[in-house]
Amino acid sequence: MTRLLAAAALALALVPGALAANGGLAPPTPATPSGEAILDVYWVVFAACAVVFVLIETALILFIIRFRRRAHTPAEAEGPQIHGNTRLELIWTAIPALALAAIAVFVFVKTPSVLGASDGGEPLRVRVESHQFYWQYVYPNGVISPDLLRLPVDRPVALELVSLDVNHSWWVPELTGKLDAIPGRTNVLEFTPSRTGTFEGKCAELCGVEHALMRTSVEVLPDQEFEQWLAGGVEDLGEQTWDAVCAKCHGPQGEGDYGPAIASNPAIVSKESLTPLLREGQDQETVPGYMPAVGEGWPERQIDALIEHVEAAVFEGEAPGGG
Ligand code: CUA
Repeated sequence: MTRLLAAAALALALVPGALAANGGLAPPTPATPSGEAILDVYWVVFAACAVVFVLIETALILFIIRFRRRAHTPAEAEGPQIHGNTRLELIWTAIPALALAAIAVFVFVKTPSVLGASDGGEPLRVRVESHQFYWQYVYPNGVISPDLLRLPVDRPVALELVSLDVNHSWWVPELTGKLDAIPGRTNVLEFTPSRTGTFEGKCAELCGVEHALMRTSVEVLPDQEFEQWLAGGVEDLGEQTWDAVCAKCHGPQGEGDYGPAIASNPAIVSKESLTPLLREGQDQETVPGYMPAVGEGWPERQIDALIEHVEAAVFEGEAPGGG
């Protein structure tokens, strides 16, 4: 009994630490109306659960104390056998049913605002091509940005999620709920960022060995700044591609990690040998190791930019045929 109490006391003592490490009980501060709607639903459901929890646990403890076996009661004695109480049964059926119905109505009323059904005009459409193990953001004007999504503030966006290999799930908790990217279909996630800032997210669907590294950042910028950036595109597409696509498996400097070391492999600076490897991956039984087709769907300029970056910053050997 003493040990049990000590364990319970220890568990209680650890609660504040666990809560703080988790960022508290609440979801992160929302940066969209969708996030606010999710937060509202969260707190209403949380409050309902808290009330039920306190009522039931209080009754439980009171009953345990009030109807405990007294010192003079024989061990085999049975309590009074009570069969049926219509009024009580009606009450304990009706109250939970009404409570659940109220929660359901509230959630259904809130759902449209969670889904971000925009009344703010035509949304900015960004195609999100998910791959093992990165996100490729493709803007209507052709600008591509691996892993880093830039958005204008106060303008509705529609992310068109597709997958080129397995199931992934796009999730940036401050912006909205998660949505799966599924091969063979397009799922659309709409929301409107209501403040500027950088918001971190990750893939929320176990998609392979480097699933944990499939992170993403969303930078919400003032409208003008965003338009300026969009007109110019990413500053160093080659470096950004290397970091998002290659480095996660092959190491930041190509020194090898889960994937083999490639820093001095001439194949990575030869367009003829690199292109098919990127576009089709490596999945032959005769060659050891598997590599997903990470470059499927890339425009040629992305391959060029990647090779340029690799030549300048990664490749350690003699350039093939170079003087
Ligand atoms: Cu993609 Cu996990």
